[in-house]
Amino acid sequence: MSINIAIDGPAGAGKSSIAKAASAKLGYIYVDTGALYRSIALYAMNKNLDNENLIGKLTDIELKLEFIEGSQHVILCGEDVSEKIRTPEVSMEASRISAIPEVRSFLLDLQKKIARENNIIMDGRDIGTVILPNADLKIFLTASPEERAQRRYKELKQAGNDTVTYEGILEDIKQRDYNDMHRETAPLKKADDAVILDTTGMTVEESVNSLLDMVKNLGE
Ligand code: DC
Repeated sequence: MSINIAIDGPAGAGKSSIAKAASAKLGYIYVDTGALYRSIALYAMNKNLDNENLIGKLTDIELKLEFIEGSQHVILCGEDVSEKIRTPEVSMEASRISAIPEVRSFLLDLQKKIARENNIIMDGRDIGTVILPNADLKIFLTASPEERAQRRYKELKQAGNDTVTYEGILEDIKQRDYNDMHRETAPLKKADDAVILDTTGMTVEESVNSLLDMVKNLGE
């Protein structure tokens, strides 16, 4: 039986940095499910598809995850789009298309299959509630909107994006939180049996250590 750790939480809470570092320590695969929604968003943007047309095209979308030296690559119709999906425009479109029930069910099997076959830390919005209801450990990772905006701002600046502003990112984060928590299908919410980890004021290292402590205590 594979070990499955589910991490859910709002955008910018540190899910990916923390899950990535903890997976490396544990020798698990880190699965970033947001990348799947982002890739569908990119597909819809490139082809100018509205919701109805996107639903009609879902079966044409060839999407797979590859793990190269522990790092996830997302392959959309044969192209590695791992970098292209990291723009603020794709973030916003991903938040929109992730509310479409057909998109969510299209991605369900892919996520479940990876979890069945590997020891994983999987992050997203509905991992503990919908995708892996029987996960060995569920964490709801959060931080204040201001701190999350500050972190994302730094990340984008470091990646060479000079057009972003802190205020713009904070607005985007608040809008995405609202969208993610208020959609009808699989809204972002804490699973009843999830542990809350609030990383406001914590370093990545401190957060990773908290997570690793929880994993250590699993069998006890
Ligand atoms: O984690 P992220 O910012 O890369 O996610 C992009 C969008 O995808 C986010 O607005 C919500 C959505 N998403 C989702 O609905 N369910 C998931 N499991 C992961 C992401």
